[in-house]
Amino acid sequence: MCGIVGYIGKKDATPFLIEGLRALEYRGYDSAGIYVAGQGVLKRVGKVDMLTKAIPKTFSGNAGIAHTRWATHGSPTEANAHPHTDTAEEVLLVHNGIIENYHELRNELESEGIIFYSDTDTEVLAKIIGQTYTADTLLEDAVTRALARVRGTYGIAVMSRREPEKIVATRLGSSLLIGIGTDGYYIASDATPVLPHAREVIYLDDGEMAILTLETYAVRNAIKTLVEKSPETLEWDAESVKKQGYEHFMLKEIMEMPEVIKNTLRGRLDPDEGTSILGGLRDVMPRLAHIRRLIITGCGSAYYAGLVGQELIEEFSGIPVEVEIASELRYRRFTGDPEHTVLLAVSQSGETADTLEAIRIAKRHGMLTLGIVNAVGSSIARETDAGVYNHAGPEIGVASTKGFVSQVAVLALIALMFGRQRSLSEKEGRELVEALTILPEKAAEILTRTDSIAEAARSFTSTQNALYIGRKYQCPVAYEGALKLKEISYIHAEGYSAGEMKHGPIALIEPSFPTIAIAPRDSLYEKICSNIEEIRARSGRVIAITTDGNTGLTRLADHIFYVPETHEALLPILTTIPLQLFAYHVARERGLPIDKPRNLAKSVTVE
Ligand code: M6R
Repeated sequence: MCGIVGYIGKKDATPFLIEGLRALEYRGYDSAGIYVAGQGVLKRVGKVDMLTKAIPKTFSGNAGIAHTRWATHGSPTEANAHPHTDTAEEVLLVHNGIIENYHELRNELESEGIIFYSDTDTEVLAKIIGQTYTADTLLEDAVTRALARVRGTYGIAVMSRREPEKIVATRLGSSLLIGIGTDGYYIASDATPVLPHAREVIYLDDGEMAILTLETYAVRNAIKTLVEKSPETLEWDAESVKKQGYEHFMLKEIMEMPEVIKNTLRGRLDPDEGTSILGGLRDVMPRLAHIRRLIITGCGSAYYAGLVGQELIEEFSGIPVEVEIASELRYRRFTGDPEHTVLLAVSQSGETADTLEAIRIAKRHGMLTLGIVNAVGSSIARETDAGVYNHAGPEIGVASTKGFVSQVAVLALIALMFGRQRSLSEKEGRELVEALTILPEKAAEILTRTDSIAEAARSFTSTQNALYIGRKYQCPVAYEGALKLKEISYIHAEGYSAGEMKHGPIALIEPSFPTIAIAPRDSLYEKICSNIEEIRARSGRVIAITTDGNTGLTRLADHIFYVPETHEALLPILTTIPLQLFAYHVARERGLPIDKPRNLAKSVTVE
């Protein structure tokens, strides 16, 4: 969703602002805008390239802010793009988030004669900052006063033509970080634009404000007291946010899978004890030993990873697990005993608004909150009491691939830890550790088989609908496979438990309706085979995913993708990969913008 970049320092700001906007493109947007001190405001609808083409060579200065907008209030137009200004056109503002009381504030301002030029909530905030920015007021104080009148979420960067050598940045519920470079200060809504320029960053916490000038910076809290913040070091390198010769980020991220699994597991397996070592949970281990209920929450793929986690944790440890979509959980009544309940939030970006809110509510109820997060330093990583990082590296493609797989790998580690604390024997633990250790090689093996997947995808390009089915561990894989196909190929797809077929979906089956059956040789293999037989008996097309050496599906499926055998509980990590490749190749055949599908954003920072 919306992205913010800013720069102030010795260099010309414009090149970084443009490069930064490009680095933020992956978040999803529909218009972009820029302001550089001493120059003007430029905005364009569409790609950052449209904006870049409009920027004259002379557009330079030592400080500036820029924004990619994903429309919420008002359609994607130049008028609605950021930066927005106050009535005197002195204040320039870029904003991520939503001002919830913008409507009443706008009515109030309009009744005072203030004219608006956009439909946005952001312009309301710009106008209020302008009102409080009297002749003897500093920009940071005007911003603080204005923010006291708004309700909602924001990450903002503000400049003023009166104080051109200053940028004010502050946040509430929308991430913002400051990169400390040798040549100046960088502002960004996530780390990707900053990576090539600064390794040391300061993550602003809610209510904190950074005041950046050409030579120095200060951070203060909501009551204007200075806060000492030690910079943290970014662990991702700049290369990891480049395509490195791949046609799409999505393909690159799938091809990275063996390395990703290795990195997620590195240093976290204990072969002697047959358990996992999760440093991020060490401090809360005594409390975890006594929990009686676990609630896993997340959105989209993260929610599906949670469903795999539910199977794993219940199977290994017997702890009752519920999995809730975060956007629903936040409006549910929390019941039960908070002392013995843990909320485990799963999020690749660590910025998903609904997941973050579910965490805040759980905390207010006294629950321990844990996170499985990929983006180091993100809001969810910072707000949960403890957690485990995926270490998957930056995921740029909107469709989550390595994010999902690494989430399932972390959940397997957590399940192993809980299992060994409770009912899982040392022998079973050792078997799992062994299977996990060789999982990266097995994932690599799948990646050598992409030709047959690409070939099957070619026969799928004119398909309108598809059904994905699986059982037990593979049921969430079916949901995830269907989500992948629909979001990047725009083919309507549904994931179902294969056992549900006779309760409705089988009515869809006819010769042109395809089913993707995830049917490895596991404990429910015979059951899903019966479902496939029933589909075949109605002349339905079938693509099957199964394990190496299984010839049982040859007569039932039009195409079969094989994955190496592994422990049944770890199979979702492998069976997901061909489904990701399949969705990728279908979307590619259809000539679609795979990394930035229509209407979608990488990081869903508003409700
Ligand atoms: O960053 P998160 O893991 O919290 O994101 C959750 C979902 O928005 C995300 O998984 C989304 O469903 C992806 N586009 C799926 O590919």
